[in-house]
Amino acid sequence: MSEHIVCTTAEGVLELTLNRPERKNALTQAMYEAMLQALERVENEPGLRVLLITGAGDSFTSGNDIGDFLAMAASDAAESGAVAPVVRFLYALAGTDVPVVAAVNGSAVGVGVTLLFHCDFVYASDRAMFATPFVDLGLVPEAASSLTMPSQMGYRRAAQMLLLGDRFSAAQMVEAGVVNAAFADGEELAQARSVALRLARKPKRALRSSKRLMRPVDELRARIGVEAQIFQRALSSPEALEAMTAFSEKRAPDFSRFE
Ligand code: COA
Repeated sequence: MSEHIVCTTAEGVLELTLNRPERKNALTQAMYEAMLQALERVENEPGLRVLLITGAGDSFTSGNDIGDFLAMAASDAAESGAVAPVVRFLYALAGTDVPVVAAVNGSAVGVGVTLLFHCDFVYASDRAMFATPFVDLGLVPEAASSLTMPSQMGYRRAAQMLLLGDRFSAAQMVEAGVVNAAFADGEELAQARSVALRLARKPKRALRSSKRLMRPVDELRARIGVEAQIFQRALSSPEALEAMTAFSEKRAPDFSRFE
């Protein structure tokens, strides 16, 4: 279990805190692995019924760790046929019948946004900011967001986030139907906990069967697979390398030399 993922359990709820505040809770492969284990715990451990995800400090998560992306681009994981922990976690999250509640306590970027479309309830701090700057990083949508975002928030808003890379406020995400409600800072976690407890007290099998019926799991998983192949190729493209190197060097990227 990664030191950057903290799990506590009480009254049937596993509360998972992304806990790497010095990096705005950027996610490493070890963190995805730990998140997968936590989800599997809720699925299988008697007494556990609901997963609640939140972040430590002032961010929910700044998405995939950019350094990890650079390392993945340089590795031959794609050729070896190994499925990366991030993809295994996303398959599991997309397919789980366990209820998942998110408390978005601050900035949510990249997969920090796209994973929300696989949560059943999302509450946000009114200071939260949401962004999916895949294109600006030379990348493509992941976590089936090329499907979930247009279908859940409408094509125009999805294009604004996925193609333009615009940031959305908590209020805009409520309006778009992605976030259930926004709260004064800190109160989103109390609301998420209260909803998680209500879910934990419901008949477990009826709840899980109902969630399964509501989610087109095969379609979501197929899209995650298609996106992952394109994403892996994009990761080692010159544009992506320039974008991620520029982020590490704290400068603006220059894409003008690429056709
Ligand atoms: N991967 C690795 N390091 C990250 C990171 C990420 N995804 N996001 C933030 N960090 C690091 C920063 O490099 C910085 O490190 P430093 O203290 O050594 O300089 C530290 O976390 C704090 O980030 P900073 O950018 O100074 O915080 P901020 O409050 O000004 O902005 C964000 C927060 C999340 C808006 C901004 O960090 C950001 O845009 N991060 C990149 C998000 C991204 O593109 N993720 C990939 C999506 S596919």
